[in-house]
Amino acid sequence: MDESAGFGVGIDVGTENVRAVVMSLNKDGSLAVVGYNEGKNAGMRKGTVANLTGPAEAIDRMLGEVERMSGYQVTKAYVSINGANVMSAKADGMIALGGIDHEITYDDMERVENAAVVGRVPANRTILDVLPLSYTLDEQDGIKDPIGMTGSRLVMNASVISVLAPTAANLAKVAECAKIDVQKMVPSVVAAARAVLSEKQMENGVAVVDLGSATTSVAVFEEGDLQYVGVIPIGANNITNDLAIMLQIDTDTAEDIKRRFVTGSFDDSDKDIIVRKGREELTFPREEVYQVAQDRLKEIFLGVKNELKTAHYDHRLPEGIVLVGGGAKMREISAFAKEVLEASVRVAMPKGFGGVADAIEKPEYAAAVGLAMMATLEGGAAPAKKQKRKSGGGKQGKSGGIFAKIFGGF
Ligand SMILES: Nc1ncnc2c1ncn2[C@@H]1O[C@H](COP(=O)(O)OP(=O)(O)OP(=O)(O)O)[C@@H](O)[C@H]1O
Ligand SMILES: [Mg+2]
Repeated sequence: MDESAGFGVGIDVGTENVRAVVMSLNKDGSLAVVGYNEGKNAGMRKGTVANLTGPAEAIDRMLGEVERMSGYQVTKAYVSINGANVMSAKADGMIALGGIDHEITYDDMERVENAAVVGRVPANRTILDVLPLSYTLDEQDGIKDPIGMTGSRLVMNASVISVLAPTAANLAKVAECAKIDVQKMVPSVVAAARAVLSEKQMENGVAVVDLGSATTSVAVFEEGDLQYVGVIPIGANNITNDLAIMLQIDTDTAEDIKRRFVTGSFDDSDKDIIVRKGREELTFPREEVYQVAQDRLKEIFLGVKNELKTAHYDHRLPEGIVLVGGGAKMREISAFAKEVLEASVRVAMPKGFGGVADAIEKPEYAAAVGLAMMATLEGGAAPAKKQKRKSGGGKQGKSGGIFAKIFGGF
């Protein structure tokens, strides 16, 4: 490992799973994965924090192994945020520049950004990011970077990503309990996009769909910029639950059937599906299993289609749709999505990194990898301390310590 390299950490706080990735920036500018881990989460509902101890303990426990593998202590990270109240909106701001010869400075950029957002976002929402889409200088529009240009009136057109204030505040508290400084909160689908999209795709027009356990999030990119974010509160676990209810089985058996047998194509084999549960052998008509799963899958992708319509991007994405998240591992899912969305669809995973990256080349790691990339490249990555976390050290963690202190022995 390059000792002088900067490090960045991404933590994806999913409803079912927490994942972390540590990256290092090598001297040649390349990124290497130096640590990763995942673990089951608890205490989340549809992408948002429902109690503080569950996710804080899950993160703490999971980071023990990440620190052991990378050899570095995780004290700060880019963290994912999710939930149906994550949204984007377009905003305009205008400022006068005071004189025709005025050269635009960073101060002016800050002023125009303030003009675009102050008073435009309801007080109960926290702004996660303001992404400039384009600027208009006097009558000239479509300017990407007006710094140093001259003019008298500057208009900024931006995409503002926000979330309900308690959603962000509670996630921040979870991170605090796990002794992590949140450098930035990023919607999980936006982070995932960073890990799997090329610049060309983002330029031409593409949508990323993160099919998680309890949510399905959509992000649309065009002209290199994020144009839209939306989150639907249905995910791949709804399929498991439907199977459990309709087939009258426990959710573990339903999950097993979903992973091994359900497919997005119309398999016309009429063989029954047989699963073993202990000594018992359970038999289910294949057609019924497919019907239940595909009905829900259709609802999910119709939800995605609706998001694309709201964003005014249905049938307008030359680079098609890219699927990530654990739900994207369902067999033949891209064929199914293609039919519903009437667009080209492919499943993607983070690729092309050095180090121990092989193990995280999976669609469900996209968000954590994207967050780690952002943290390493934008987060002022610094050499991390060579010291292990006191709490999550063992397999079970020693969470009792910090949590007992913070929660007074919850
Ligand atoms: N091989 C597989 N086949 C089908 N589904 C799978 C497979 N592996 C995982 N899944 C599903 O992926 C989902 C978990 O995905 P993921 O870890 O991305 O969710 P999450 O990030 O915890 O949730 P969310 O993003 O909704 O908050 C579960 O519903 C799980 O059943
Ligand atoms: Mg997720």
